Amino acid sequence: MTQSVRTAIFPVAGLGTRFLPATKATPKELLPVIDTPLIQYAIDEARAAGIERMVFVTHPSKPAIERHVMDDKALRAELQARGKDGLAEDLAESAFCPVADDVRFVMQPEPLGLGHAVLCARDEVLPGPVAVILPDDLILGTPGALSEMIAAHEGGHMVATMTVPREETAKYGILAVTEQDGPIMKARGMVEKPAPATAPSREAVVGRYVLDASIFADLETQAPGAGGEIQLTDAISRGAARLGLRGFRFSGQRFDCGSKAGMLAATLHLASQDPDYADVFAEFGLTAEPSRAA
Ligand code: G1P
Repeated sequence: MTQSVRTAIFPVAGLGTRFLPATKATPKELLPVIDTPLIQYAIDEARAAGIERMVFVTHPSKPAIERHVMDDKALRAELQARGKDGLAEDLAESAFCPVADDVRFVMQPEPLGLGHAVLCARDEVLPGPVAVILPDDLILGTPGALSEMIAAHEGGHMVATMTVPREETAKYGILAVTEQDGPIMKARGMVEKPAPATAPSREAVVGRYVLDASIFADLETQAPGAGGEIQLTDAISRGAARLGLRGFRFSGQRFDCGSKAGMLAATLHLASQDPDYADVFAEFGLTAEPSRAA
């Protein structure tokens, strides 16, 4: 029987340099698509997937993450006093209650890589496989990508994948695919940000992972890789022969919200579906249905 996935790790310690100056005082995970911060989409996806414990790996310079994620009783009371009960209820629903919910914050004081960030969460996770969610990768759709992956997971490591143009392989972890069966592909390993000429395929990893608990032992002994960082990709790859590695093609639409173009595309995509913004679209001569994501 496969074990259930009870913990989600959110690596959110990065400095968000690509979005400066917006990220000078505001963590990039709190940048909104319309009115909802990226991190909220990720939390909602994890909740919908039945995750029990959420572990945020953050940085001492980003206290606003915790402030957003946790319930703010005083703000709700103030809203209620002003007759804005609906808003107060929405806030209570999206935030975590310190008593009823299982939420942890751990620090990654130095930017030593995504693998290192995940390792920082080691002492906080529940037994069994863990999920990792990168809020930069916004995936819209129902069911959520993590729910789909957990339903398809049968042990070993699983990563979310999508096909990218060959000239973009150096932006992603790329799978060495051996077999394809519907939305699931088997891989013998993966490589972090290979040049187009050496990439083993065009199947790129996007920010959703379901990982066997042995990932922590592999991360502990993981030498720095691409960019001198401890790469999650390398530790996953080391477990591939032992445990199996599968790529999963999720059904939702993914936006690279780690880039300005991706943020814009996500905003336009959501706005185009909301009649509140029809006038804005008309004013700028935009059609309401964008044909593809960034
Ligand atoms: C990280 C991972 C990479 C993955 C990507 C998905 O890279 O290291 O393997 O393909 O996320 O967004 P980053 O975008 O943080 O450089």
